[in-house]
Amino acid sequence: MDILLIGSGGREHALAWKLTQSLDCDELYCAPGNAGIAELATCVAIDPMDNGAIVAFCRERNIGFVVVGPEQPLVNGLVDALEAADISAFGPTAAAAQLEGSKGFTKDLCAEFDIPTAAYQRFNNAPKAKMYVRQQMSGGDTPIVIKADGLAAGKGVAVAMTLEEALDAIDACFEGSFGEAGAEVVVEEFLQGEEASLFAICDGQTAMLLGTAQDHKRVGDRDTGPNTGGMGAYSPAPVLSQELIDEVMTDIIVPTLAGMHARGMPFRGILYAGLMITEDGPKLIEYNTRFGDPECQVLMPRLKSDLVELMLAASQGSLLEVPEAEWDDRAALTVVLASKGYPGSYDKNTVIEGIADAEKAGALVFHAGTGRRDGALVATGGRVLNVTALGNSVTQAQKAAYDGVSQIRWDNGFCRSDIGWRAIEREKE
Ligand code: AMP
Ligand code: GLY
Repeated sequence: MDILLIGSGGREHALAWKLTQSLDCDELYCAPGNAGIAELATCVAIDPMDNGAIVAFCRERNIGFVVVGPEQPLVNGLVDALEAADISAFGPTAAAAQLEGSKGFTKDLCAEFDIPTAAYQRFNNAPKAKMYVRQQMSGGDTPIVIKADGLAAGKGVAVAMTLEEALDAIDACFEGSFGEAGAEVVVEEFLQGEEASLFAICDGQTAMLLGTAQDHKRVGDRDTGPNTGGMGAYSPAPVLSQELIDEVMTDIIVPTLAGMHARGMPFRGILYAGLMITEDGPKLIEYNTRFGDPECQVLMPRLKSDLVELMLAASQGSLLEVPEAEWDDRAALTVVLASKGYPGSYDKNTVIEGIADAEKAGALVFHAGTGRRDGALVATGGRVLNVTALGNSVTQAQKAAYDGVSQIRWDNGFCRSDIGWRAIEREKE
């Protein structure tokens, strides 16, 4: 069948790479795609937020299956619109995507179904939120976490070390720094530990583990500087032992699916659990309702099973009937190349060369923000390329990925030099 993929980032390039390996995938289309995806799929200039245009395109081309990459179209009801038009799609409905679209919704679900997470309160006005924060911080110097309720492109979370920072973060939300997303605020207990991500593919009732990963959110080496969408990632996450994975599946993922089912909004799609591994065990930091970016770029190269088969089973409620996902035992690591200035402002349309050389050196290069101008490959975004490699250890995968990076000639690009450092220190022990 012909498949339509929605999105334009490195995550979608990795998905396109994997989807086109499936015998079930005839023609792949991508809306809107990027220069890398264009080598695997026919890119079509349709806005991912225009549900009507996507439904019309699917009808016109007789698309058999739609795979939605990013969160905004999910929260915007794309899967609902496709299902109403009898077009099969992979991803949650708008109601189920609230797990990502509303932090308050998720916290309430955790409270009701006894899912381990940070203690919290929800507020719809600044004075009450501030009163609560003052009371919580009165005991000493424990940090506190302030979150805009809605989607804020990863920017709506402040880990406040002081009362002043916390009060400022509350003002920023209610004064509209995150638009509608900040009309409600969640104030959370600060969790201490190591962060890791676990992915599960879900069919409404059943969840199947779809790998683990860790990413690096800060722009600078040793995890310093401002937060970004992610500067690199590796899979599997060494901190998540089989025992911890089992605990997360049993105590966090399964009750979430049961809770969503009980609420009449069964969850189908990818459940991406952001976890803190605390002294008291794993706790949920947040859910995303799609693959991570750049985590997807390290999951897909390790996945041996047919992705289309898994996604179709998830969308049809028949995951129990397909075999468990199979994995390459090697580690995968990806380094993000970004435009100088990111996550602040940066120049666009700067020329990139050497991708084929990086691939010859053994790396997989996924494009995150690229286009073509007069035939040349140019950067069109902040995060631009994801240079990815496999290795028998994270140390070896890191070496292979940076060997690939060294082949790329791009004056306006930069990357971190230490992706995977935590795992590599563990491997030295
Ligand atoms: P989120 O968008 O909810 O994943 O938050 C972004 C980042 O903020 C997370 O990856 C954590 O590093 C940090 N964070 C969020 N919530 C907490 C918490 N309750 N305790 C400690 N750190 C947190
Ligand atoms: N890498 C973080 C995210 O995809 O949300």
